[in-house]
Amino acid sequence: MEKLLVRGGNRLEGEIPISGAKNAALPLMIAALLTDETLTLHNTPRLADVMQLQKILGNHGADIMIAGKRAGQGRFTGETLRISAREIIDTTAPYELVSKMRASFWVLGPLLARCGEAKVSLPGGCAIGTRPVDLYLQALQRMGAEIEVEGGYVVARAPKGRLNGAHVMFPKVSVGATHVVMMAATLAEGETVIENAAREPEVADLAECLVKMGAQIEGIGRSTLRIQGRERLHGAEHSIVADRIEAGTYAMAAAMTDGEVLLRGARAEHLSAFIDVMAQAGIEVREVDGGLAVRRANGEMRAVTVETQPHPGFPTDLQAQLMALMTRAQGVSSIRETIFENRFMHVQELVRLGADITLMGDTALVKGVASLKGAPVMATDLRASVSLVIAALAAQGETEIHRLYHLDRGFEALEEKLSAVGADIERVAA
Ligand code: UD1
Repeated sequence: MEKLLVRGGNRLEGEIPISGAKNAALPLMIAALLTDETLTLHNTPRLADVMQLQKILGNHGADIMIAGKRAGQGRFTGETLRISAREIIDTTAPYELVSKMRASFWVLGPLLARCGEAKVSLPGGCAIGTRPVDLYLQALQRMGAEIEVEGGYVVARAPKGRLNGAHVMFPKVSVGATHVVMMAATLAEGETVIENAAREPEVADLAECLVKMGAQIEGIGRSTLRIQGRERLHGAEHSIVADRIEAGTYAMAAAMTDGEVLLRGARAEHLSAFIDVMAQAGIEVREVDGGLAVRRANGEMRAVTVETQPHPGFPTDLQAQLMALMTRAQGVSSIRETIFENRFMHVQELVRLGADITLMGDTALVKGVASLKGAPVMATDLRASVSLVIAALAAQGETEIHRLYHLDRGFEALEEKLSAVGADIERVAA
């Protein structure tokens, strides 16, 4: 077991390279199951979730080669994965593998579309709510799948060996269900129309890669997607989009220390709601050559009123970090979580560091305090854990953060990136 030691008070200054997005890398890797040719993915972040998914894909018969760095590349440039699923040797995704990471449930779409059958364990993942899979199953049933849930597994079959195109209207926006139905539709017979599709940049990144693989998809980036099914897809090469959540996180880490950083590779068009909220708080996030520049505009941070929403709204994956930042703002912030019902587990840990937060149902009221104080705290989920790092960067004294496996699922080289811009942070044995 390891823990992070953070001694607060240092101002962050310099350049932070932004990695490829975890939430794009996972569906892109899964998309390799749709073809018997090789899918090459550049800019893949080195993360526990990516390694876990390699095991899952290997279990289905995929060969994965990890290429080294190319000449001229720096320390934090991602890896190149070459994934070849020439033959699917097993259409079962077992509980032992799927329970470690919710996104691995998404293999259901490609397996069912390519092989006409799949048996996939119901997922685990971060404990941030009940996170059901009803939307996935209803949509696949509309595409002709026969589905049963038996002994903790979803057992799905396409009676004719192939799914058919269908009109899918999601009653609620779901990133994962959009990924799965879109992937399944690329190999279905006829046209699939997805209405109320998720518009997250990671969905668009997957769609763009699928098009390179020979899929026909109209409406990329919009809430209605129109997909013409193909007999087969082929290999392709794709570079994973920059991680907007990592970028937003480091922007807030810098703002927390009154610092000034350049987020290399971050893209403003993926962060517009976030940038608006930062402006309200008095933090300038400006598009510059090669990325985004962040600094406090003038003096004090101000409290904000925010509600999480599907993209292009304020992302739930930045809610915990915003809460940490607002512990040091002038006034009372109101942060409402509308996507996940149980995504406030960081509140008690932030309170241990001296934050003044009151929970009222789905809304947290955060009253800015004059100072935070270091303490031992525990990471509870992926984004919550990094909110503790943000708070610790401004706390007096030392903060110990335990249960780092949450952090390692989604943040590549966090200590290195933060130390390089001046943070006093180290990983030690717990
Ligand atoms: C993805 C992201 C996660 C992010 C979330 C919302 C990945 C690997 N994970 O998760 O980081 O926080 O999007 O932006 O990309 N729901 C149902 N029924 C379903 C499916 C979902 O009710 O069948 C609900 C969920 O419980 C949740 C909401 O829909 O309340 C949104 O979830 P969804 O967009 O599906 O999240 P994930 O794809 O799991």
